[in-house]
Parts: sequence; C-alpha cells; structure tokens
Amino acid sequence: MTDRQTIIDNVKSRYGQIARASTPSCCGGGGCATEASDISLGYKPEELGAIPKGASMSLGCGNPTSVADLKPGEVVLDLGSGGGVDCFLAAKKVGDRGFVIGVDMTEEMIDLARHNAKTGGYSNVSFRLGEIEELPVDTGTIDAIISNCVINLAPDKTRVFKEMFRVLRPGGRFSVSDVVAKGAIPLNVRKNMEQWAGCISGALDKNDYLQKVADAGFERIEIRSEVDYDFQRTDDFSLASVTVVGYKPLNHHPR
Ligand SMILES: C[S@@+](CC[C@H](N)C(=O)[O-])C[C@H]1O[C@@H](n2cnc3c(N)ncnc32)[C@H](O)[C@@H]1O
Repeated sequence: MTDRQTIIDNVKSRYGQIARASTPSCCGGGGCATEASDISLGYKPEELGAIPKGASMSLGCGNPTSVADLKPGEVVLDLGSGGGVDCFLAAKKVGDRGFVIGVDMTEEMIDLARHNAKTGGYSNVSFRLGEIEELPVDTGTIDAIISNCVINLAPDKTRVFKEMFRVLRPGGRFSVSDVVAKGAIPLNVRKNMEQWAGCISGALDKNDYLQKVADAGFERIEIRSEVDYDFQRTDDFSLASVTVVGYKPLNHHPR
C-alpha cells in the first residue's frame, strides 16, 4: 500500500496544477472526469447558467446537490470543494439565512474558489483549507454534507466517514457523488499515483464503501443514482459513479 503522504502530495500537486491552469472563463481541466469526459454529470443547463461563468468548472462525477433536498436557512458543508461549483449551487438553495462551507486541502483550489465567490458576489459561502480526514469544522454544526468525486482520493475513507458523522447534527444528512469499484482493483492500478489522482486507484469496492458508511453510524443509506463507466473495464473489474445519501440518527447524542 502506498503511504498516506505520497497520496496526499500527488493529489495536491494534480489539483494545484488544475487550479493554476483555470481562468475565470475556462471550463473543465482534467480532474476526475478526464477519462469520462463524455459522461453527463447530471447538472441541468439552467443550474449552471445561474452561477457566474468561470465558477462552473466541475471536476466531479455527479450532482450531489440535486438529491440533497437543501432548504433555506440550512448550513451545508462541501468536502473537497475545488473551484466551488457545488457550493454555489447549494448557496442558492439555502439562501441568505443559510450558509455553505467548502473545505479543500489544495491551497490553489481554495484561492480559485474564493476568487469565484468574490466575482459572483456570494456572501453566504466561505472556503477553508483542510483535509477531509480531519475536518476544520465544529462537532454537530452541519445540517447537510455534500461532496463530489473526492472521498475516493482520500487515503483513509474510514476516517472521512467518521468525520462526516462527527460534524453533522443529529438528524443531519449527506449526499455524496463518488467513484466506486466493482471487483478488486488490480494491484498495478492501485499503486499508480497518477491514476489515484485521476479518481481511479483509490476507489473502494461499492459494497465496502456502503459498509464503511454504515459502520460510521449512518442509517437510511441509499444509492440515488449509479452510472457504469466503460474505461478501465476488464472481465472482473469495472468502475462506476454513485450518488449516495444517508442520515445521522436523530437520537444520536455524543457521550
Ligand atoms: C476531483 S476534484 C473535485 C472538485 C469539486 N468537488 C468538483 O466537483 O468540481 C477533487 C478536489 O478534492 C480535493 N481533495 C482531494 N483529496 C482531499 C483531501 N484528502 N482533503 C481535502 N481535499 C481533498 C482536491 O484538492 C480537489 O480540489
């Protein structure tokens, strides 16, 4: 297994490059969706049309806000917010009484997202530098978590799901789009850092993913959409994008 710091350094380097190459008027940039560039992420043109040009760069693999059922006044946390596209979509839904926090470990992405927020005049969104395995967020303060094609990039998914559980209030929920594997990822792919940063090598087996989510304490876990990918497919292995929702039990009180 490749060590944690090597994974983090490679992922930061890849997304730092993408952020630096992104101008306010450019779209796309070779992140997770590189090999799946013909795959629809599920955004409606009118959704993206409503946020400023340049802020709509998506490196994701789904549309988590579409199934997050966000309501005015809610506090939303986006894990691995990139240029901020899902934060800006969420900001519209929660309105002026609500708030959206984006967390990303790549400084250049945070700079880009802050630039986009300023250009778009968003006063209910802020971006924090940090890792999703150790969220810079207080316990029990979040109504809804969203994330788009990020958890597969983290070295330790168990820690990520535990952190999600910690920061949500009782009854809070998550809506996450991510890449998962069906079958075992070949060892040579698992060790390939370029493919890890491209959202392939770090993908968990779909059943393991759902089990880890349940082990963290979530309930009512449900896959809301699933798209099978053709790239990297072999006879006994393939990749897919899933959008998963789950809830922190309402009666959960920390000891
Ligand atoms: C594939 S991009 C997705 C960005 C955004 N969610 C979107 O849909 O456009 C992955 C983002 O997650 C960030 N990231 C990857 N691993 C992370 C980690 N362990 N902690 C925090 N951010 C991470 C990267 O810096 C990058 O901005």
